[in-house]
Amino acid sequence: MDTSHLLNLREYEPLAREKLSRMIFDYYANGANDDLTVRENEAAFQRIFLRPRMMAGNAARSMNVSIFGQPMNAPILIAPMAYMMMAHPDGEAAVARAAAARGLNMVVSTSATMALEDIATGVPEGARWFQLYLYKDRAAARDLVQLAEVVGYKAIVLTVDRPYLGYREADIRNNFGLPPPLEVKNLPPDATRDGLAAYVSPLFEDNLRWSDVEWLKSVTGLPVLVKGLLRGDDARLAVDHGADGIIVSNHGGRQLDTAISGINALPEVVEAVDGAAEILVDGGIRRGTDVIKALAYGAKAVLLGRPVLWGLALDGEAGVGRVLDLLLQELDLALALCGCRSLADVTPDLLAGYSPIQERAVR
Ligand SMILES: Cc1cc2nc3c(=O)[nH]c(=O)nc-3n(C[C@H](O)[C@H](O)[C@H](O)COP(=O)(O)O)c2cc1C
Repeated sequence: MDTSHLLNLREYEPLAREKLSRMIFDYYANGANDDLTVRENEAAFQRIFLRPRMMAGNAARSMNVSIFGQPMNAPILIAPMAYMMMAHPDGEAAVARAAAARGLNMVVSTSATMALEDIATGVPEGARWFQLYLYKDRAAARDLVQLAEVVGYKAIVLTVDRPYLGYREADIRNNFGLPPPLEVKNLPPDATRDGLAAYVSPLFEDNLRWSDVEWLKSVTGLPVLVKGLLRGDDARLAVDHGADGIIVSNHGGRQLDTAISGINALPEVVEAVDGAAEILVDGGIRRGTDVIKALAYGAKAVLLGRPVLWGLALDGEAGVGRVLDLLLQELDLALALCGCRSLADVTPDLLAGYSPIQERAVR
């Protein structure tokens, strides 16, 4: 379906709901328990207002950013998301191509339905990072990380908020399982690839410790980010154990329901880390102004989740491309209307309620 008539990211979801089977749509859209955190993720951005600057002489603008020395055309990455071939047969490769064509970075999930090397070789250009769910089998985890490195992934994102699966009631009701012949491609060699087993994942470590970050640093030369932190003290521990970056995230509300939103947790993480690591945030980003708000609170970049899946479901690579283009256009216009020439101009004083106290929090 051609999606070029859609005007914003939110318009994609109801159309994707019509197109996808109930089991697949629910899996993608679902949060845990009452979906309170899913809703809060978007609502939290809607409670924040901006203090735009005028007369800034900013007709020429740039959204460029560099993270770990890796240039990106905008501070927007594709969040790691499982099972993209359920949305469209072109799956992860279509998303990788759409992102690369725009100079944006995609984070590929451990639970991808295409092999890491196939996603990489089909799409030579473009930065890709690899998101790791740590296997209990550390040798298999090490092999996967080293494969990612060899085939050109540029950072490892260790997701730590999924030691157990959140209580996703719709998935239980629908008896969710990956529909055959789809399978999780990046499992240890002797693992069962059955769809339901992949979802429940007894292979993943359920006893994560900070020393696992040190272990990961010892098996890769790539930058390591820890994804799924919502507290300043945890962020500091991550840095003390060697993390190069933090992704402030509640996993799109799919793990602990009533967990705080990423954007609301961001100020304390920024303060605690105090410049010692790159900080990214995700959850509920749907508008260009949401990106501005996250950057004004001190994030280097944001990750975009579900709208990518809706674009993929509706029109494959072109649908994802349109979702990204809409968000990029919105971000550019928001920068223009806020009086910013570049991301360096996106500072805490753009936030309504800005005060010296807040300035300390977002320093
Ligand atoms: C369908 C789906 C699958 C996901 N799979 C993963 C995953 O495999 N690894 C991971 O770290 N996060 C995963 N996430 C969480 C996202 O990376 C991200 O934190 C979240 O979706 C961002 O929120 P948003 O969807 O509101 O933009 C998944 C999210 C969704 C919606």
